[in-house]
This record gives sequence, C-alpha cells and structure tokens, in this order.
Amino acid sequence: MHHLTGLHDMPARIVRTILDRASEHKALLLHDSDNIPQSLKGRRIVLAFFENSTRTRFSFEIAARNLGASTLNFSAASSSVSKGESITDTIKNLEAMQVDAFVIRHPSSGVADMISGITSKSVINAGDGTREHPTQALLDIFTLREYFGKLEGINIMILGDILHSRVARSNIFGLSALGANVGVCCPATLLPGDAASLKVRVFTDIDDAIRWADAAIVLRLQLERTTGGYLPSLEDYSLNFGLTDERLEKIRKHMLVLHPGPINREIEISSNVADRIQPPGYSSSMLLEQVTNGVAVRTAVLEALLANSGKDECPGNQGKSTKT
Ligand code: CP
Repeated sequence: MHHLTGLHDMPARIVRTILDRASEHKALLLHDSDNIPQSLKGRRIVLAFFENSTRTRFSFEIAARNLGASTLNFSAASSSVSKGESITDTIKNLEAMQVDAFVIRHPSSGVADMISGITSKSVINAGDGTREHPTQALLDIFTLREYFGKLEGINIMILGDILHSRVARSNIFGLSALGANVGVCCPATLLPGDAASLKVRVFTDIDDAIRWADAAIVLRLQLERTTGGYLPSLEDYSLNFGLTDERLEKIRKHMLVLHPGPINREIEISSNVADRIQPPGYSSSMLLEQVTNGVAVRTAVLEALLANSGKDECPGNQGKSTKT
C-alpha cells in the first residue's frame, strides 16, 4: 500500500493484516507504551484538515508521534488557501518541503483520490465529503471484531443518515469484505440512490432492524445537511429512528452500540444508550472504546504505509502508487 483513500475494493486480507497489527499496537499503547517501535523516526506527516475534526485529527497525531514521526498541522483558515491558493498548489508546495505523507480531510468527495494523483507522497483519506472515511470504518470493524471474535455471519445495522455518510459507505465495503451481514436503517429520504448496488439489507422500521441486528453503528444526523427537506422534523426523526432504552427494552434485545461521533444526544441516540458501557440494561456502548481503538488502528495504518516506503521490500510499492 502506498495510499489509503478508501475501502472500496480493498482485499479482505489487507483489512485483516491492518486489524491484526492494530491489536498489537493496542496492547503496546495500553500496557507497554515505552516499547512502541520508532519505525517512523525522522518522517514528517502533514495533517491537512480542511474541515473540523476532534477524534480523527488527534488520533492521527498521537499515532504518528508514538511511532517517532513529526506532525505538521495545516488548517485552511490560517494558510494561504484563505488567499485563494488552490489545493493542488498547496500540496505541491508542502511536498517541496520534503514531507512524507498527507492525512487529508476535505468537505468535497474525491479530493483524497485527486491528491493521490498529484503527489508521490502517501495520501491517507481522513474523510472526504460523503464518499469515504476508511480509518473510521477500520476502527469500527476492529471494535466489532474484538467484541464478537469474528465478523462472519454477524448482523450489523447502520442506523441513520446513510445518504450523507462517508462512514456508512466505508463500513459497508469493509464489513462486507470480512463476511458480516450489513443492514441499513433510515427514512427513505436518507437512503442513497445506489443502495441496491451496495448489496445491503434495507430496513425502514427500526424495530425490525433491532430484532435482526447483533450490533448497531448509529450515525450522526448531519444537521448541517438535513435542513434541506429530508425530514419532517428532528422530533419526528428521533421518535421513529432514535435508539433509546425504551425501544430496546420493548424488544428485550441486547445491542452492542457504536457511534463514530460527534453525537447529537437525544436525537439519534439517547444518553442512556450512549453512556451505558456495561449491562444491566439492553445495550453496551463502545463509543469511547472506539476512540481508543482509533489510535491503534491509525498507528497500524501509518506504519503499513510509511515504515518501509522507499525500500524495495515494501509490499505493493514497487515504484508505483497502489490506490486502495
Ligand atoms: N468520527 C470522526 O470522524 O470524528 P471527528 O470529526 O471528530 O474526527
């Protein structure tokens, strides 16, 4: 691998290799941080966030520093982008300073792939528009695999604003590749037009989805995008699609609950469900475990892309870019 721009078409064996290495990094991170290998010593990683972030940006920064790399934080508002410099010129100028990789978040779909075509440095997609957020999906998949011990045959429901969600798309690709059964549950107005080609089970009744699912990945209702007539009201959405104790208790079903964050409390998920880590009750929240796992997974991704780059023995990098 030279770039990580998405999970679409990523072979299952590569996903498994990253998850296995992330398990080793999680153990080091939690119990033996002095012995994290300094495999990226001397490397410079640009964190280029053209859109806000808390979890993704900080976890990439911790992961890079834990491996011995230095990080350069780029924000569009304080850069020459604010004077009209194009993203292509920005990347080429940073590349001329001999950086080694770009971690890119951008509000426009396709930007990560576009940048991977104009730079010889590694590009990691940290979320592009409504297209993909591969490292979020990898950490979600890691969390599910760690809990269930496997993914084959496990029913995973993705609940909420599927239409606008890059997290949903990356999870559908990655979970399907590893043999999970993936369902989506949302109002018809928030179902993507290409849902049939995604080969997922579609639910429009949350109670049916809960009966089917072993775990739910609840999505943030993207309030900045859903004011354009997608929903009758937030109250209506919450009533019909919010994940609450009352709903789980009615069906008497234990549910493992994930959410990529940030959460809208009492809209797509109740605080009881979001905050309950252990039963008693009908749910177990993995929200903060996901955040810890994010550091381990991003450490494994940076290492996979950069630790051997430039060396002949680096798999899949025989002098050319390998888009994933
Ligand atoms: N889940 C996620 O991408 O969160 P941030 O926007 O805080 O990075």
